[in-house]
Amino acid sequence: MRRVIIDTDTAGDDTQAILLSCLSDRVTVEALTIVAGNVPFDREVENAKYTLDLAGAVDVPVYEGARQPLLKEFEHATDIHGEDGLGGDVFPDTGIESAAGFGPDEIVDRCRAAPGEITLLCIGPLTNIALAYAREPDLPDLVDELWVMGGNVNCEGNITPAAEFNLWVDPDAARRVFDAFEVTLVDWGVCLRDAVFSSPEFEAVSAFDTELASFFESVTQRARAFNSEGSHDPGWTALPDSVTAALLAYPELRDAVSTYHVAVDDREGLTRGYTSVDVNGVTDGEPNTHVVESVDSDAFQSVMYSLLQSRDPD
Ligand code: BDR
Ligand code: CA
Repeated sequence: MRRVIIDTDTAGDDTQAILLSCLSDRVTVEALTIVAGNVPFDREVENAKYTLDLAGAVDVPVYEGARQPLLKEFEHATDIHGEDGLGGDVFPDTGIESAAGFGPDEIVDRCRAAPGEITLLCIGPLTNIALAYAREPDLPDLVDELWVMGGNVNCEGNITPAAEFNLWVDPDAARRVFDAFEVTLVDWGVCLRDAVFSSPEFEAVSAFDTELASFFESVTQRARAFNSEGSHDPGWTALPDSVTAALLAYPELRDAVSTYHVAVDDREGLTRGYTSVDVNGVTDGEPNTHVVESVDSDAFQSVMYSLLQSRDPD
């Protein structure tokens, strides 16, 4: 059983990554830590609590973390995810209280208490992880693994041609994390290739007629509408956070993984947040990042279908 802390800017498919992890029998979710990213921070916190409630996992504590990037001015992505990040449908407040404590401090305390046992699943900007590392410089040795959804290996960025959203929002944090930790990276490009749901998959999901399937349709509808402009398929969306959670829990989904030196560009300008991946070994950088280069997309689809067909938690 993998012990996992999920660091999330909960909106869109962050919710699916949380559900998948909470409902998987391969993973124990120890805590959620919330980071500034997709939508206004307080909304992210409520979205996380709603998702835990849906999973029947209200005992998982939610710690609020960084409300803004380390240095750069904050910009969220409500144009993609909508103001609420859950597709504009109105979900009731759960009344769940946030746990006492600051997210990065909790990451440190929990990893100190169980050295080598806790994996960090990072599906938002890396601000909380950089803050935790600043407090505990031995954190890279204390974690089991550190998984990051972010970056783009082949310049297929979703916020600029060079950058993917999570790393672009806080490139200063990302640079510190990649320079210090052995990262397992699921970049935007592999998600576009191997973790996309389009109209046929959404039709299949509609037929499941479960609470989780209907929630999935709600939280992805804004991203699908955003993607429909200029697309041959009006109904597609990538599932970057879900596939990262699935790859962590189900190693058999990892088709190809290679290790390279990866550096993050933290400068302002055209390449802000770019992940420079030294595929040909032309720098002196030590290999520091396991890059997931391909995913068994059929197996991923099966994992998602099983999740979305699973019995309603209540
Ligand atoms: C990433 O940014 C967020 O919009 C998604 O949740 C994912 O973590 C994709 O760029
Ligand atoms: Ca996310």
